[in-house]
Amino acid sequence: MAGRKLKSASVPETEEKMQYHLRVKPGDVSRYVLVPGDPERVKRIASFWDKAWEVAHHREYLTYTGYYKGVLISATSTGIGSPSTAIAIEELARIGSDTFIRVGTTGALRKEIDIGDLIISTGAVRLEGTSKQYVTPEYPAVSSLDVTLALIEACEELGVRYHLGLTASTDSFYVGQERPGYKGYLPPFNKGLVDFLKSVGVLNFEMEAATIFTLANIYGLRAGSICAAIANRETEEFVVDAGVDDAIRAANEAVKILSEWDELRSIEGKKYISPSLIKKWFERRGY
Ligand code: URA
Repeated sequence: MAGRKLKSASVPETEEKMQYHLRVKPGDVSRYVLVPGDPERVKRIASFWDKAWEVAHHREYLTYTGYYKGVLISATSTGIGSPSTAIAIEELARIGSDTFIRVGTTGALRKEIDIGDLIISTGAVRLEGTSKQYVTPEYPAVSSLDVTLALIEACEELGVRYHLGLTASTDSFYVGQERPGYKGYLPPFNKGLVDFLKSVGVLNFEMEAATIFTLANIYGLRAGSICAAIANRETEEFVVDAGVDDAIRAANEAVKILSEWDELRSIEGKKYISPSLIKKWFERRGY
């Protein structure tokens, strides 16, 4: 792309709508996109698909597309944190994707959440800064009902341990999550953060869900999040990679489920997923 003249400084894409950061264009990706932070996790997600190919790789953004159980699916890494995540959602939305599932890792705030358990977020406390550049802090960062239900159903089918509830998204892995910074630095306003968040029902820390949910709500898109608990801030355990394969399997399966619900909604002329529609879906599946 070096030397190419883009449409304008405000719309940094080519005439074919190739996006400046992600280097993807319409037709390259599915409407369903799994969004891990780590580019290596994109390859790992795609290793569970029937067929997969690399679409683009630029900076922290690696994109694969393929088929999972016959459903067209994509995965794009967001990099760590909210600014790069917002860029990924912006550019994927511009080329037609409308459903995003974060597949991440997380630090649990509760003793009863074991290392390797999965956490599905119903909403996220917006402790990061990016979403505040889009909308006032009172605006809720909530996940989409159908994506969240599909993640729950996927976990039930796979028989993996999961928890459902509120997440806190920060811009800082260390002091922003009340871990000591270099030389033990911790600003007074972050002292007691873990206890405070626990006291108001928050389950876990991570760094991207709030931005994904906020942008999805503003733009009328759908989003959910499933994270593997690799750390527990109560028990002080930290196990690299624990539960990540389960999170990947659940997210892939949730896309298959969502695609079936989307098809059924269109057949039945329904705008929303509902218990009665899910009952029909079970009947169709022969349950
Ligand atoms: N990711 C985070 O943001 N925090 C953790 O503790 C673990 C993963």
